[in-house]
Amino acid sequence: MIKPDAVGNKHTGAILDHIIKAGFEIVAMKYTKLSNEQAGNFYAVHKERPFYGDLVKYMSSGTIVAAVLRKSNAVADFRKLIGATDPSKAEEGTIRKLYATSIEANAVHGSDSDENAAIEASFFFSSLERF
Ligand code: CMP
Repeated sequence: MIKPDAVGNKHTGAILDHIIKAGFEIVAMKYTKLSNEQAGNFYAVHKERPFYGDLVKYMSSGTIVAAVLRKSNAVADFRKLIGATDPSKAEEGTIRKLYATSIEANAVHGSDSDENAAIEASFFFSSLERF
C-alpha cells in the first residue's frame, strides 16, 4: 500500500518506479480510500497497540494505492526495499528513508509474510487467480 502521506505528497510515481525497477511485477493495483471501519479491520492485528486509534484515523484520511506485487522472495525483498518502520532508522536509499514523514505516516505498507500477503491482497482485490 502507498499510504495517504506519500500519495498526498505526490510520491506515488516515484515509489512505483522504485518498486518496478527493483524487479517486482505489479499484478493488480488501484487508487482507493479506506473508511474508518476498513482501516480498523486492515490493522486489527494492532488493536491493542497505543497507536492503533491514530493509525486508523490516519489511514482513512486520504487516498491510498493498493497493489499486489509478484517476485521471488517478495515479502523479504519488499521489506528491504521499503526500509525500517521508523523512517529515521531506515537505510539510505529505501522508500521510507526517501519519502516517509514519520513513524506513522511512513509512506508504504508491506506484508510481513506470504500468508498475510494473501489475506491483505484479498482485502482489496477479488479473483486474483485470473492474473
Ligand atoms: P505498517 O508497516 O503499515 O504496519 C503498522 C503501522 O503502524 C506502521 O506501518 C506504522 O504506520 C504504524 N506504527 C507502527 N509503530 C508505530 C508507532 N510506534 N507509533 C505510531 N505508528 C506506528
